[in-house]
Amino acid sequence: MKIDNLRVVYRTDDTETVAVDDFSLDVKKGELVSIVGPSGCGKTTILRCIAGLLQPTSGKITIGDKECTAPGSDRGMVFQDFALFPWRTVKQNVEFGMEIAGVPKEEREERAMRYIKAVGLEKFADSRIHELSGGMKQRVGIARALVMHPAVILMDEPFGALDAQTRNIMQEQLTKIIQHSARTIMFVTHSVDEALYLSDRVVILTKRPSTIYKIIDVPWDRPRDRADPEFTALRKKILEYLEMQNVMED
Ligand SMILES: Nc1ncnc2c1ncn2[C@@H]1O[C@H](COP(=O)(O)OP(=O)(O)O)[C@@H](O)[C@H]1O
Ligand SMILES: [Mg+2]
Repeated sequence: MKIDNLRVVYRTDDTETVAVDDFSLDVKKGELVSIVGPSGCGKTTILRCIAGLLQPTSGKITIGDKECTAPGSDRGMVFQDFALFPWRTVKQNVEFGMEIAGVPKEEREERAMRYIKAVGLEKFADSRIHELSGGMKQRVGIARALVMHPAVILMDEPFGALDAQTRNIMQEQLTKIIQHSARTIMFVTHSVDEALYLSDRVVILTKRPSTIYKIIDVPWDRPRDRADPEFTALRKKILEYLEMQNVMED
């Protein structure tokens, strides 16, 4: 996926907010890239543009040789608030996209169950959403995105609503999933620790309008050890970069 010179200006009656400016990034196939940056800097705006939910003011996003101007099945999104259908079961939620795409019932069920198993929810396939914990709900969200085999998966602070312990478990599970099947993922988070634990690269944004401040290559194999002095040192360095953004704001 290639993002070229993305710029987004929000206009209301009397104000103009430049949310994103001069944002360019190449994401390789199978790569997990995290985006971290100050709150309100434009992270969600970038993901919404890639998802095709928001038309950028200028700039271009392409996957392969196809330009992304509207939502499409080549991009899957996982939301912080899960955005599941509460009246449907786990399996029915995971099947939803395939229903829309006209996938035959038998194939739909087989694929849905495969991904429900991959996220460890096979015992809950017929449960309703309100019967699930937050972590389980987000596993449904992830299965629902994976099952469509999108070229790119977009995750907007997907574990942000979960408690610390559940969050760590989810990060481990996501690590396993990407080790089993190479997935191209853009992952927005405000946790530097999470970004370092998961990503191949960490993109640090400036305060609004977000442009790229620095890109950090994360050199370690997975699973990673948070207690490793190298991990701790790199985390500290990125936190210092982010603090500098706040200083510049004052
Ligand atoms: N629909 C909108 N209309 C006007 N301003 C918006 C809109 N959506 C977001 N913004 C503004 O754009 C900036 C970036 O927002 P967002 O992308 O949600 O940031 P982040 O996800 O990094 O917290 C913020 O200042 C926000 O207030
Ligand atoms: Mg956001």
